[in-house]
Amino acid sequence: MRILSIETSCDETAVSLVEANGGLVKPRFSVLGNSLFSQIDIHKEYGGVFPMVAKREHAKNLPLLLEKTLKQADEYSVTDSSYSTEAWDEIKKILSREEGLFDLFEQNFETVGKPDIDAIAVTYGPGLEPALWVGISFALALSNLWNIPIVPVNHMEGHIFSVLLSEEEKPIQFPALALLISGGHTELVLMKDWGQYEILGQTKDDAVGEAFDKVARVLGLPYPGGPQISKLAELAREKNFEKVAKLPRPMIHSGNLDFSFSGLKTAVLYYVRDNPLTNDTQRADIAREFEDAVVEVLLKKTKEALNETLAKTLVVAGGVIANKKLREEFLKLEKEFRDLIVKTPTGAMSTDNAIMISCAAYINAVLQPDILKKQPTILANGNLHLDKDK
Ligand code: KG4
Ligand code: ZN
Repeated sequence: MRILSIETSCDETAVSLVEANGGLVKPRFSVLGNSLFSQIDIHKEYGGVFPMVAKREHAKNLPLLLEKTLKQADEYSVTDSSYSTEAWDEIKKILSREEGLFDLFEQNFETVGKPDIDAIAVTYGPGLEPALWVGISFALALSNLWNIPIVPVNHMEGHIFSVLLSEEEKPIQFPALALLISGGHTELVLMKDWGQYEILGQTKDDAVGEAFDKVARVLGLPYPGGPQISKLAELAREKNFEKVAKLPRPMIHSGNLDFSFSGLKTAVLYYVRDNPLTNDTQRADIAREFEDAVVEVLLKKTKEALNETLAKTLVVAGGVIANKKLREEFLKLEKEFRDLIVKTPTGAMSTDNAIMISCAAYINAVLQPDILKKQPTILANGNLHLDKDK
């Protein structure tokens, strides 16, 4: 099955075309085309993501990325027979909420032939609603133009199934536990089976990626903070800088599986207020201590959840698992818990991308083949949950 996917939930515009097969027993994915445009340089100026700027950039980039992806997959063709006026009228209606997108769409796709694809997957939440809407409208327009079914995908389910792309041959075994750590989420999710989710614990305030970004800002580092903190912390470990800063491990003994990271950011703020930053060694020391605090809390809660659920597989996914220290520590759990399989996405699959959206769409299409027959109404849902909205 060939799935074209579109991801615009935050500041990455991404389009991919993936061939999927093997069903639930041996899901296999081969990437035929993949394009991604990161808006980081644009948002850097503001120190965070501005939804309306993200929306504008998505609209500008989607037609270009789609063309690039189709060309990579050798699915880009130009036809003489143009689409009917009725088709364009309908598309105009679909795209009416996105200023300027119809003109761009028409210019780019008026003569593009229907590619050989079976479904179009699109992220409909969680994320920034204005940004999500652009992707949804664009996907609906394509679905209409080419008469191809559309599959709405939960972004967090995309992160979970990003691990299916890793090289190693270890299938997910259920019950499985997923620790999802991204810019907007920190949650421990029990997966009783494919598509069955129960949230066991989550952050009460900031997500862990958000904490990385905010602490980076306090330390005077650019957005997004995760990779910057990561680099400094690594330097501190490599050079064995003296450990001076001490930060709390929020909620580590709370007795439940919830998290809190906003206090950690405040603690860094107070620390820097009382110990003004004068050099990079000091910055690196704080970055290492912050990373250690995050790793300790995440590990402790995950171990508790593994003991509680007797999960056979641990999936750790979301942008923050790009962090080297975290990845190393989580992979060690395979030694500590007998028979546990730990699955993490490969480097580039950790942060937002469209390939993982194709993976999740495939799993959903195998679970409920009927979704390919319906033409669902798709509404952006910024607060979409894995369990409640199923
Ligand atoms: O999953 P993602 O790409 O987007 C969301 O769905 O939020 O995650 C982005 C988050 C950002 O907060 C970013 O700072 C963090 O992932 N991140 C990292 C690293 N790379 C990205 N955090 C820690 N260490 C990293 N190496
Ligand atoms: Zn994400």
